[in-house]
Amino acid sequence: MKIWTTEEKYRAIQDSDREELEQLHEKIAASPWREDYHIQTVTGLMNDPNGFSWFDGKWHLFYQWFPFGGVHGLKHWYHVTSDDLVTWKNEGLGMKPHLLEDNRGCYSGSGLAEGDTLYLAYTGNNKDIHMQRHPFQMLAKMDREGKIVKSQIPLIYEQENYTEHQRDPKLFSYNGKYYILLGAQTKEQKGVFLLFESEQIEKGWKLLGELKVRGYEDFGFMVECPDIEKVGDKWVLLFSPQGLEPDGDRFRCKYNNVYFVGDMDFENLEFIPDGEFEELDRGFDFYAAQCAYQTKEPDAAYMIAWFGCGDYTTPATDEEGFSGLQTLPRRLTVENGKLMQRPVPAAEKIRGDILFEAKKGSIIRDRMHGLMPRSCVIRLEDPDQESINLNLFSKPRRRGFEIAYDKFKKVLTVDRGDMNQQFNTEFGTDRKIRLANGLRSLEVYVDRSSVELFVNDGEYVISSRMFPEKDENLIRMGGRNIDLTIWTANKTVTDDFVI
Ligand code: FRU
Repeated sequence: MKIWTTEEKYRAIQDSDREELEQLHEKIAASPWREDYHIQTVTGLMNDPNGFSWFDGKWHLFYQWFPFGGVHGLKHWYHVTSDDLVTWKNEGLGMKPHLLEDNRGCYSGSGLAEGDTLYLAYTGNNKDIHMQRHPFQMLAKMDREGKIVKSQIPLIYEQENYTEHQRDPKLFSYNGKYYILLGAQTKEQKGVFLLFESEQIEKGWKLLGELKVRGYEDFGFMVECPDIEKVGDKWVLLFSPQGLEPDGDRFRCKYNNVYFVGDMDFENLEFIPDGEFEELDRGFDFYAAQCAYQTKEPDAAYMIAWFGCGDYTTPATDEEGFSGLQTLPRRLTVENGKLMQRPVPAAEKIRGDILFEAKKGSIIRDRMHGLMPRSCVIRLEDPDQESINLNLFSKPRRRGFEIAYDKFKKVLTVDRGDMNQQFNTEFGTDRKIRLANGLRSLEVYVDRSSVELFVNDGEYVISSRMFPEKDENLIRMGGRNIDLTIWTANKTVTDDFVI
């Protein structure tokens, strides 16, 4: 395994030539684990989604990007666009670190579209000569031609009553005012939300104080990537707290991404939750979710997340020179007080030809003959709530990637512990959810090195990376009276080298 020196990790794109990255891209493009319909890193490592927004008739997304290999190094922003959140185009470098304020990376942030400008707020991660970190909340502006200009003057300077961990500004507007919600750490090592306000985006920011969540005080040792969205007449507060303890089948990842549904009291700096905070995803690999600023649909939010987690590794691809993925974008709604997460409407375009179909448990057509496609979409209806078993990427005497529902216990299990490639096993190799009202439907998106399960039409989502090898090429299915369809998956992302 390659050991990266500090010098190698802190190279910026301007310190290299195109050829070096082109060669790296050529190498990774040949990997069996490059995806067909997920946003994937052009080269190197991708982590959080940034600046997700609807601007100038298109969706824009940036991601945290270290160009030179599958490790966390100097972070840039890479830019991709889409008309429908399903078909994505690589646009090239969005931002590179070149100011004193961001000398150790352009860290995560958000986008707010207004008029002819997409405002991008991000954290300038500065380190001084003693390697002491100083966070600055910075601004860049993108015009309709896609030209991005960074502003030299920070919007917000380091806040002295908190530690060096202050980052990931969520810039939003409400009732004629602008706000920035920031993740921070108190000197007692507690994760908190800071709320800032201004009359203008480009200046005049002042700290209102900590945003408290009524009835809750403990969000671990740090809150990363806070995000707040109005969905219908409710507010949804999403965040990635670090240091939560596992609780039975919940919070089993190293770091978990959670949400509250509730109401926002700007005057008293208080979020009033309707209930407990819940995980956004019940799988293995999901972090730093961000909603897009959009005004098209006031009753819904659009969200995307890093299909990974801090301090995890995916050795299968890291060593080939790439790491990380974005999840499928999800459409969020609040229904009867509950957050529902579904694939975006255009996700239908991912479905290609029908490979397999069973009705009430009987096979109607089968073009797979037991062979597992590398990517596909599976839809399962279970009207009688019978037990089911799906073993993807299995092989003789091995269960592969197992999805199982036990109708007696009403427990859905996803288990990746019997695949050849094992990684991050200290955080468990299975995930279980007890479904109070049983299993009614499953929609499974399989894409070469990832699986996402949408359970009961958006009630839960379970996301998992996996790296099937050549000999893991069988699919086994079991379940009485179920309706099951499997489609080929269309390619909606191109693996173009654009920097
Ligand atoms: C979350 C995070 C952010 C930070 C970024 C750096 O994954 O640690 O808090 O801005 O990643 O890449």
